[in-house]
Amino acid sequence: MKETIDRLRSEGSERIKAAGSESEVEAVRVALLGRKGEITSLLRGLKDVDPAERPAMGAELNRLKLDLGELLDSRQAEIGGTGGSSANLVGDLTLPGVPPAAAGTNHPLLTVLESICDIFYGMGFSRDDGPEVELDYYNFTALNFPDDHPARDIQDTFYIDPKVCLRTQTSPVQVRTMERNEPPLASIFPGRVYRNENADASHSSEFFQIEGLVVDKSISMADLKDTVDTFVRNFFGADEPTRFRPHFFPFTEPSVEVDMQCVVCRGSGCGVCGQTGWLEIMGAGMVHPNVFKAVGYPEDVYTGFAFGMGIDRIAMLKYGVGDIRLLYENDLRFLTQFRGVF
Ligand code: DAH
Repeated sequence: MKETIDRLRSEGSERIKAAGSESEVEAVRVALLGRKGEITSLLRGLKDVDPAERPAMGAELNRLKLDLGELLDSRQAEIGGTGGSSANLVGDLTLPGVPPAAAGTNHPLLTVLESICDIFYGMGFSRDDGPEVELDYYNFTALNFPDDHPARDIQDTFYIDPKVCLRTQTSPVQVRTMERNEPPLASIFPGRVYRNENADASHSSEFFQIEGLVVDKSISMADLKDTVDTFVRNFFGADEPTRFRPHFFPFTEPSVEVDMQCVVCRGSGCGVCGQTGWLEIMGAGMVHPNVFKAVGYPEDVYTGFAFGMGIDRIAMLKYGVGDIRLLYENDLRFLTQFRGVF
């Protein structure tokens, strides 16, 4: 076998040198290294070589294969091709490109989150962030939740230890932001929140909220109403009316729930709005003096409003999604329907 290898080395390089065109170089490549080429069949024949000599022969053959491959590439480059096999990859540069089969896309929740933020940026709000693993102090105490408030129960809140929980709302970011900044301020806080819920079509143990906070001298409920209306008009398009219903939240006084006219029936009553013609979209109110006290703002100088809404719910209303779990299962058949939305 050794002689055959030596012969092929000298003959092979002669033949490569003699090849005068790209197709001739290609023909030599096939004759030597192709599926039925001489070197390929020698490699196949290795199994019949005396086991004592086989490793040395194998190494020799592989070296020959590499050397001749290199010679073929450089001869090809000399003649004008870009060299060996890569020449085939370049192909015809004038052909139109092939569009990628499956381009990635933003998750619909992220798309909705960012477009809500854009509307608030347009009204002069900035954006802040807070931790998802939160101190009980920020999630409840500083927000004027009494010690025995049912939301503090482990049935509703995931506790990590008695003082640390997964935040159940984005409202603690209000407190953190006020601690760091002096008024006037107008900011939004989007993020993920957690509650100890059993999952069903409208509940999930994790979901997204966006919180808003405005503090200045003489901020009123009228400012809140105007801000909410501007958001609803911009996000849902038409001139949807909104209404405030009295409610209770520990950290606002007065507190309201905000409804908008049902996007499906336009107020006449349907299954989506429970025949009321209205859909609840957020909680809101005027910042409670005890919250200002907790962050050290003089409560007789400043007033403020706050609001919080579920991004999942807004996304579901906007796109007619009937089950919140679809937003967390990452089923591509669902997600790809939102490609190119917005
Ligand atoms: N944090 C409340 C919740 O999760 C929502 C909320 C209500 C936020 C009223 C607010 C507000 O800022 O003023 O149910």
